[in-house]
Amino acid sequence: MEKVQPLISAQEIAARVKDLAAQITQDYAGKTVTLLCTLTGGVVFFTDLAREIKLDVRAQFIKVSSYGNNSISDGKIRLEYPEKLDLQGKDVIIVEDIVDMGYTARWLREFLQNESPASVRLCALLDKPERRVAEVRIDYLGFAIPDEFVVGYGLDYAQRYRFLPYVGKLIKDVD
Ligand code: IMP
Ligand code: MG
Repeated sequence: MEKVQPLISAQEIAARVKDLAAQITQDYAGKTVTLLCTLTGGVVFFTDLAREIKLDVRAQFIKVSSYGNNSISDGKIRLEYPEKLDLQGKDVIIVEDIVDMGYTARWLREFLQNESPASVRLCALLDKPERRVAEVRIDYLGFAIPDEFVVGYGLDYAQRYRFLPYVGKLIKDVD
C-alpha cells in the first residue's frame, strides 16, 4: 500500500500562486504575456496562475519527454508536441510543475531561444535544489522542497494523484 502525506496545503498553494501572479503582473505591466504550459504536470498550476495574472494572458502548450533508465532522467529530452510553436517576438513564461535535476528546464530554455521570442522566463511551482545536475535559473518559484518524490496539484506517479488539490509526499509500502 502506498499513501500520500500532505506537504503543501491547497491554501498555501493558492496564496503562493497569488503572490507569483502579482509579481508577474507587475513585471510585465502593459505587456501581453504568453504562458507556455508544460504538459502534463504543469497544467493545474498553469490554469490557476493564468487566472490570477491581471494582464492580457495567452496560452501555448508544449510536451517533452525525458527518457533514460526508468524514472531517473539521463538528460536526453525530446519534443513530443507541438510540431511548430508560435513564439516569435513574444514575452514567454515557461510554466513548469517542478525542477528536479534541471535537464528539462534547461533543455526548454535552450530550445526556446531558437524560436526568437522577445524574452523567456521560467516559473516553477516546485524546486528540488538538492537534486540539481543541470544549472537553470528559475525566475518565479513557488516552493523549494526537500529531495522527496511528491505528487498532486499536477504531479503524478504513474499517471495517478495528479488532481489532488494539495502537494504531498508519496510514501510507498506502508501497511
Ligand atoms: P528534471 O529534468 O530532472 O528537472 O525533471 C523534471 C520532470 O521530472 C518534472 O517536470 C516532472 O515531470 C518529473 N518529476 C521530477 N520530480 C518529480 C516528483 O517529485 N514528482 C513527480 N514528478 C517529478
Ligand atoms: Mg513535467
